Amino acid sequence: MKREVIIACDFPSKTELYDFLKPFEKESLKPFLKIGMELFYREGPSIVSELKSKGAKIFLDLKLHDIPNTVGNAMKNIGRLGVEITNLHAAGGIDMMKAARKGLDEGAAAVKVKSPILLAITQLTSIDDEALKKELLINVALKDTVIHYAKNAKTAGCDGVVCSALEVSEMNKLGLIGLTPGIRLEGDNTNDQKRLATPVFAKQAGSTYIVVGRSITHAKNTVEAYKKCVKDFE
Ligand code: C5P
Repeated sequence: MKREVIIACDFPSKTELYDFLKPFEKESLKPFLKIGMELFYREGPSIVSELKSKGAKIFLDLKLHDIPNTVGNAMKNIGRLGVEITNLHAAGGIDMMKAARKGLDEGAAAVKVKSPILLAITQLTSIDDEALKKELLINVALKDTVIHYAKNAKTAGCDGVVCSALEVSEMNKLGLIGLTPGIRLEGDNTNDQKRLATPVFAKQAGSTYIVVGRSITHAKNTVEAYKKCVKDFE
């Protein structure tokens, strides 16, 4: 599968998003975009249709987690949007992930588009071993839950997982692709991220996709920062 850089469009509304995209359009660049909850809950599904009509590839990062029937029906609607990638929480269980896969496939088939790549979140990076034990009463190592949830995701028909560059080779061994956030170009501000990787490291580790937010969106020259990520990773 082709390696691709995805820009995390963490903007409050489409005004800021379109301002950000202007210099890319000037250079006829069509970057792969991640639309998350912040923008989606403000603008609704029309933001996805608008970007798709301009030829953008979309990773719709909504991290679904509910009973199988609800997630299946929600994924049917996501499948109809024609996005390239979407995701859910593996913590919802195998039946929920199976319903999601089925819903996506049915929704995409209804409008004759390709069914999206489905990725599972194993454990959020905000959860550590202490929170797992004290808050969630799960008495096994975090790393073991990550592997176990990834196996469940594979069983349910997911294509891959969202994971750090440090975990991706283990995921590849399970037959899953890895999408890796927490990417910084050499010398950039680390902000609130703790376990960071450069595009070069993620490539060597075996990531198929990297998600880059502030290293591009907060750069002095956003297009150059994007091109550097592409050069290093793709
Ligand atoms: O600005 P930055 O590159 O840190 O943004 C990373 C993006 O990836 C954000 O949209 C964030 O929500 C997302 N993400 C992450 N870590 C995860 C999962 C998603 O940073 N484990």
